Amino acid sequence: MNITCSMAVSSKSGNTKLVADALRRELSGAGVRFATFIDLDDADADPVQSEGVESAKGAEGDEAVENGQSANAAASAPVESTSSTSTIATQASEADVIFVGFWCDKGSCSPAVQHFLQGLAGKRVFLFGTCGFGESDEYFAQILDRVRAYLPADAQYIGGAMSQGKMGMGVKRRYEGMLEKDPENAQARMLIDNWNKAQSHPNEDDVSRIAAAAKEALEVISE
Ligand SMILES: Cc1cc2nc3c(=O)[nH]c(=O)nc-3n(C[C@H](O)[C@H](O)[C@H](O)COP(=O)(O)O)c2cc1C
Repeated sequence: MNITCSMAVSSKSGNTKLVADALRRELSGAGVRFATFIDLDDADADPVQSEGVESAKGAEGDEAVENGQSANAAASAPVESTSSTSTIATQASEADVIFVGFWCDKGSCSPAVQHFLQGLAGKRVFLFGTCGFGESDEYFAQILDRVRAYLPADAQYIGGAMSQGKMGMGVKRRYEGMLEKDPENAQARMLIDNWNKAQSHPNEDDVSRIAAAAKEALEVISE
């Protein structure tokens, strides 16, 4: 495939970075050239976490993820100005396709990713991401729809794929606290089960699935 791509990634705790690195390896093996790799966490233009962004599940599940992990977020990347976000958008502008990796933040993506996507006028974009819940393709699709909505109208969304990603210990403790208070709390049990399942993600199958979706999208545009 004679395509030049850029990849831009935001990863709070490493899951999405892991997928990004594996995806880059897989695609490079298939002849895709990556001209630039952009760490979006180096240019977070917004000092405020995305308060009030609608959750994909709309249920306490996400709020629990959110609250639990917010406690671990104290060490997040330093904030820089909006201008650096536009600089990296310019860096990516030579590429045929921009791969944008994001972690699910309250049902959508973090402000750094939102700003980056907004700067991709006229570009072809493939989205990939990780999130705490992994039970259905429909859930992934909802998140992708929310995230792609940040693209300018003349950007071309060529596809996207997601996987589940492990969550912090603080989240689990919070769920366990819910269960301690109310041992009959079925939702707390479900959340703990999900947390345990998430521990093994992203795994090789997740990466293969995301890479297959990316290759398919690239094949379609190179036809
Ligand atoms: C502040 C915050 C909010 C989150 N919101 C959601 C959410 O709404 N839905 C979800 O499924 N996962 C949510 N998660 C879980 C992360 O998206 C998930 O663990 C992801 O794999 C983290 O990726 P990273 O390691 O690349 O940062 C949230 C995590 C944090 C820290």
